Amino acid sequence: MSPDHLLDVDDLSREDLFAVLDRAADYKQALAADEDHGDLAGKTLGMLFQKPSTRTRVSFETGMTQLGGHAVFLGEDDIHLGRGEPLKDTARTLSRYVDCVMARVFDHENCEVLAEYADVPVVNGLTDDAHPCQTLADLLTIREELGGFDDVSVTWIGDGNNVAQSFALGCALAGIDLTVVTPPEHRIDEAVVERAGELGEAPETTTDPEGKIADADVVYTDVWVSMGQEDTRDTRLERFEGFQVNEDLLAGSDARVMHCLPAHRGEEITDSVVESERSIVFDQAENRLHAQKALLATLVE
Ligand code: CP
Ligand code: NVA
Repeated sequence: MSPDHLLDVDDLSREDLFAVLDRAADYKQALAADEDHGDLAGKTLGMLFQKPSTRTRVSFETGMTQLGGHAVFLGEDDIHLGRGEPLKDTARTLSRYVDCVMARVFDHENCEVLAEYADVPVVNGLTDDAHPCQTLADLLTIREELGGFDDVSVTWIGDGNNVAQSFALGCALAGIDLTVVTPPEHRIDEAVVERAGELGEAPETTTDPEGKIADADVVYTDVWVSMGQEDTRDTRLERFEGFQVNEDLLAGSDARVMHCLPAHRGEEITDSVVESERSIVFDQAENRLHAQKALLATLVE
């Protein structure tokens, strides 16, 4: 595989992406059959976190264990980063110990700094701008559910946030037809739309959900208030009125529903939709494990 790091999905070529997804599917089967798979014996993953996490933390740590390696949790306040040690020094020091760094940081630029100064692969475990590991799991889930990507159409509804932006790049690479419906103030970045257009088809972007749900194979949403945006909560809740994924929005549609989780039930999605037959949110969560194992093995082996 060509990239040294995974800072966003477009570090992967279409060929790389499909190779990771195929490997993830193989690992998933092997795990279910209790067969040996992958070999990261003696390898260590450093996991740097500036924000909380359930899925990312546990799936990366479990994944390393299943591959025969080890993961170290590094909360920013547990290491000297939280006391002002520069990120570039942290990157160089960690590189002397671990074989890969996974980082969840606020500023995307900080992930780039880590990658610049680390001598080992750096994987973005979510920044304010991107969440590529989520996209890998999402594409694996869509392929499992719909048998492939050809003629698949997805409507993203809600915030044009980190998860949406990486997903847009992933859809362009995979050949999924994507429509992104957001309030005018919360569109995905124009640079992401342009980049998606370079990789494949740019998503259609609109501020009106009308007519964008009925024909979608998948409806995907995420929280309206991401980590770090809590002080703008009230304004956001007002702006997102009418964008909730609920039974009314889905009336007449047989779309599956995706959410990267954690879900704020009663805000961007209702409890009944999360609990419904159409919800594949826990398959997405599970696939974080398989997709990231494939990615780690590919980057580190
Ligand atoms: N979807 C996701 O990244 O979840 P966590 O914040 O729990 O890691
Ligand atoms: N958009 C959310 C995703 C969490 C996995 C956030 O950044 O908080």
